[in-house]
Order: sequence, then C-alpha cells, then structure tokens
Amino acid sequence: MKEKLTHPIFKIVSDCAEAINVQAYVVGGWVRDVILNRTCKDIDFVCVGSGIELAEQVAKKLGDDYHVTVYKNFGTANIKYEDFEIEFVGARKESYDRGSRNPVVEDGTLEDDQNRRDFTINAMAISLSKNNYGELIDPFNGIKDIEAKIIRTPLGPDITYSDDPLRMMRAIRFAAQLNFQIEKNSFDAISKNKERIKIVSKERIADEMNKIILSPKPSVGFKLLFDSGLLHLIFPQFVLLQGVDYADGKGHKDNFYHTLEVLDNISRHTNNLWLRWSAVLHDIAKPQTKRFEQGHGWTFHGHEDKGSRMVPKIFAELKLPQNEKMKYVQKLVLLHLRPIVLAKNEVTDSAVRRLLFEAGDDIDDLMMLCDADITSKNPEKVKRYLRNFEIVRTKLKEIEAKDKIRNWQPPITGEVVMNTFGIPPSKKVGIIKDAVREAILDGIIPNEYEKAFQYMLDKGKELGFVPMKNIFNSNG
Ligand code: CTP
Repeated sequence: MKEKLTHPIFKIVSDCAEAINVQAYVVGGWVRDVILNRTCKDIDFVCVGSGIELAEQVAKKLGDDYHVTVYKNFGTANIKYEDFEIEFVGARKESYDRGSRNPVVEDGTLEDDQNRRDFTINAMAISLSKNNYGELIDPFNGIKDIEAKIIRTPLGPDITYSDDPLRMMRAIRFAAQLNFQIEKNSFDAISKNKERIKIVSKERIADEMNKIILSPKPSVGFKLLFDSGLLHLIFPQFVLLQGVDYADGKGHKDNFYHTLEVLDNISRHTNNLWLRWSAVLHDIAKPQTKRFEQGHGWTFHGHEDKGSRMVPKIFAELKLPQNEKMKYVQKLVLLHLRPIVLAKNEVTDSAVRRLLFEAGDDIDDLMMLCDADITSKNPEKVKRYLRNFEIVRTKLKEIEAKDKIRNWQPPITGEVVMNTFGIPPSKKVGIIKDAVREAILDGIIPNEYEKAFQYMLDKGKELGFVPMKNIFNSNG
C-alpha cells in the first residue's frame, strides 16, 4: 500500500511517531476509500500510545499555523491541515458504554482497536512504522469484502450493533452509497436490535438519513430501512405511504414505491439535498387524504396542501433545519401538482403567470420535481405529459420574458392604498390591494405602475372611498 501514501502528511506522522517511540497507522474510512478510489478528506490515525501527544508532535512539525484541538472525553485530537481533517486517537479496547453511547477509553493494542470498529471494510489499517511502512493490516479480510461488495461486522453483529446502534444506520448508508450488500447475519441483527436506535441522538440519525438521500440511488437505502423495521421507528409518516387499498375492485398505486421512484428519478438530475427532500415528502399526506369516490375511484384531494402543512412538524421531529430550507421544501410540496394540472388543461397566460409568481426562483426546481413525478408505466401517457410539460416550459419562458413575474412584488401595497384614500388599516385595504395583484396576474391590466394605480382608484371608488387630494404627488 506504500504507493497509496503519496501525500507528505504520512511521512510526517511516521517521523513523529518514531520520535516519540509509538507505532502509528492510518485507519478506517481513508483506507477504505483509497482502495475504492474515492476521495476522502478525513484521515484517521491510530497509535499504540497517546494520540494527543502524537498530534502535538505533528502540529509542531507542520509549523506555527497548525493547532491541535483536543477532545478530552473522547481521547482524540484533531488538526485542520490544508483541506483535510486529520484525527489522532490512541488504540482502545472497548468503544462505548452500552446504555448511553458514551465512549469508554481503555488503552489497547492495534488489534483491540480494529475489533471495535464497525465494519470489516472500515477496520483496515496501513502501518506507518519504519520497519513495515505501507503494510496493510487487515485481520478481517476487509479487502475481500470490498471486492465482493459486502458490509460485514468484524465481531458478531449483535455485539457491534449494540456497542453503537448508530452503526445500523451506517450499514444501510454504506450499502446505499457504495452499492454494497449487507451480509445476511448482519441484516438480521439490525432487524433484531432496531429498538436500540432510540438511544441515538436524532441529529446523528438525520445525518445518516441525509447521506442516504444523497446517495446515487436512495431507494436502496429506504428499502433497507423499511425491511429492517428501522424506518418505522425513525420516520413513521413515510411508512404510512406503503400499501394499496381496494374498493369496487379498484386499487390505487402504492405511494411508498411511487415516492421512491420519484426520489430516484430526481436524484439522477440533482444533488440538491432539499430538492431531494421535496421528492421524499411530495405525497406525504396521501394516506390522510385518501378517499374512494363512487364514479371517480381513488382520490387524494388536497394532499399537496396538507402535505405542505405537515413539513414543519416532520422537519422538527427529524431535527432538520427550521429555516428557509424547510420553507423551500414546503413550497415545492404545495406546488407540485400545479404544472401537471396546467399541462392537462389549456395552458393559459394567466395560469402560467400565477405559477411563476408563486414559485419565483424555484420554478426550475419545481419543473424538475414534476418531471420526476411522472412514473406511469403507460408509455403513451408519459409521452403526453412530457409533451405538455414542454409546452408549459416554453410558455413559462415567454411569459417571464414579457411580464417579469419571477420575484415580482405587486406594485400596489397596503401602504399605497391607505395613503391614497386616507384610510386606516382594514379588511377593505387588503381587498383593494389583492384585486390589483389579481388583475395583473390575470392579464386584465399590464404589469405597470400607472395602470395598476388607476385600477386601484377604480376599485377604491367601487367600495365608496374617495382619493385624497395631491395623491399623485405623494405616491406617484
Ligand atoms: N467508526 C465506528 N463506528 C462508528 C463510527 C465510526 O467504528 N459509529 C469507525 C470506522 O472505522 C470508521 C472510522 O471510525 O471508518 C471513521 O468514522 P467516520 O469518519 O464517521 O466515517 P467514515 O468511515 O470515514 O465514513 P464517512 O466519512 O463517509 O462518514
């Protein structure tokens, strides 16, 4: 493995380890990734001795600009070096206290340390000692598991997973990211130990879930989460999408598999985590809005509106951000049917203007979500939808070029209405203001201030208001 240690940092660590007379190794994810030809910006070093002391030596050698951050509780030390995060730890015996995930620090050998790691592919080490520099130390045949694309625990899976239940999520995440299979005993152990996920913080679970969503084909991870029973514990709302009801011999589509198809579809076109989350949640309210209507069949009326209103609670429960990312997901869930409805009917200018106004700069993302949402197995239907979407796209461009509605703020504010008519805030102010906005969106008047102002005067008069004198000086 010597040929893989091209970066100067390895020689530096090797020299420092020799100077303080400890054996040091590169270990874990970096070793796995170098074998897989993936880039990895985290390098973990383990030494038989004090990881903190080794880190301090290394920082000294690197120069004044480099500092060691020590995490006393974990017995680890960290240096930011170029764009790498490098971490040092002394070899340990046990990893975690069973009840709490708190680490138990007890010095051990390299072998002890490798035993307590999560998967065989993550337990390989490369020696940095002078006598066997570059030698791969792979007691569990991790390299074979990489070739066979298998996720396997070094010890019995019950031990490894109950040591740290987050590893159940990690197994599934690696399977999704790397397109590996989880070895059967290991998968059975996940199903068996699933309840232990409850001692893991929601933030860590969300972190793994986001990594699954960002993997090349996220359905792989979601199906494993579902089959193991973990999904039922960490994201029960999503599980409710699964299943088909029948009435009068008619079934609806299984919204769990449909959603996963939409997620995989969109993942071929974007790495935007929040756009992928919009795909995850676009139909989340279908179980709650499902009805069978005689003569119509199955309907899910209002699922986009209810789904959008469910987003904040789901984000809060999953410890996802409560900020503009969440609002973006809410907006896309709310609007996800609009282009389809548009495409089914005649594409009028005013409908397109309205959609542009509501979607703003997120219109292209919305169109991408809608494309991904076409999962019909009927090629004729798919062709028709895609053709209609093209018409919608062309219209969107035309209307935007003409009317500049994206990011548009209606010209007549409540303030203008109140100043013009000399009236205090009231419901009627809102009625006038909205009437002007609607008239522009409907194309009754052009998107111009003077025309909008005149329209406001007419509307105000209809409601019995008289404009104050000098209005054109103060507002025009
Ligand atoms: N590790 C472990 N159990 C965990 C987390 C980590 O045994 N719950 C070990 C594994 O050997 C892992 C190493 O610590 O390779 C580094 O962990 P981390 O940086 O979290 O993950 P990586 O494997 O490097 O993968 P990624 O960077 O994709 O998260």
